[in-house]
Amino acid sequence: MSVIEAVRWSPEGDAVRLIDQRRLPGEYVERDVRTCEDVCEAIRTLTVRGAPAIGICGAMGVVTALAGDVDTPAGVFRARLREVAARIREARPTAVNLAWAIDRVLGVAAIAIAAERSNSELLTALRREATAILDEDRAMCEAIGSAGAPLLAENARVLTHCNAGALATGGIGTALAPIYRATRDGRRVLVYADETRPLLQGSRLTAWELSRAGVPVTVIADNMAASLMGLGAIDLVIVGADRIAANGDVANKIGTYGVAILAHHHGIPFYVAAPSSTIDPSTPTGREIIIEQRGREEMVQLAGTPSAPPDVAVCNPAFDVTPAKLVTAFVTDRGMILPPYDFREGWDERMG
Ligand code: MRU
Repeated sequence: MSVIEAVRWSPEGDAVRLIDQRRLPGEYVERDVRTCEDVCEAIRTLTVRGAPAIGICGAMGVVTALAGDVDTPAGVFRARLREVAARIREARPTAVNLAWAIDRVLGVAAIAIAAERSNSELLTALRREATAILDEDRAMCEAIGSAGAPLLAENARVLTHCNAGALATGGIGTALAPIYRATRDGRRVLVYADETRPLLQGSRLTAWELSRAGVPVTVIADNMAASLMGLGAIDLVIVGADRIAANGDVANKIGTYGVAILAHHHGIPFYVAAPSSTIDPSTPTGREIIIEQRGREEMVQLAGTPSAPPDVAVCNPAFDVTPAKLVTAFVTDRGMILPPYDFREGWDERMG
């Protein structure tokens, strides 16, 4: 079975190759994006989605979008770099990984510019950095898998929300990484995937990638989680994250907060799996996290069929914030992190 590569370079290196996630599970289609417009559109429309994957795509997209400008004067090229980076950075606001990845390539650009590198040398340095972001993400996913697998006993029943798997990252995922790792180690793990209204990342994507990997998965509608927990059918919850504030508050797919409250009520551990790139020391608490509001069409139709009166008022926040006090532990590439949480600047150095 081929490895899922949600985002990678095209063979010629002139495009970002994406799995078009809007079309799963019906069709597996790959799509190449090059220009700034196409990269932003792919991120906004969720062709590519998941916090780490949009960061990787954004960094690579800066490179492909600038390739045609190499022969312009240095000042023009650098202005274009700033413009492209700013536009891609703003394509989606909540996942810190996008801004983080763009800031990494801009940091490399600043060093190359200070060293008076040519346009093509600058572009080569950006490409190297974007590739490093992809490679590092793959390694962080593996490390999250190793850190989280011991949570999963034989026949563990795990509830997850949205898709924080291979489709959302450069590797084997975040929330799904411990599940893949435990499975690789020979343990049977049973996954309940919240369908995840309104865009169904759980039923379309999590169920697709776990089934493909031979991991037993059962799709439930979001409103069934309480009942299953009440029946004693869930041992633990593992979800991903789009941004983790300095105090440990977590922005993740809308509905995560509800799952956390349910888990707390039923005494079920609630884990958040995320790479270091999702931790944002500069955002003090969840209150300061900007929550993306998405279009009304996602709420008034299902696969093109009306699911609500066309002119009804809708509210469509793409994410919510789970307070740190509901998080049993973070499963990260730096290991398990237990409360009290302190992700202020230097958190990783303090971990040793
Ligand atoms: O809107 P999406 O599909 O990009 O939302 C994705 C999520 O909320 C994921 O749980 C999160 O990005 C973690 S992905 C490893």
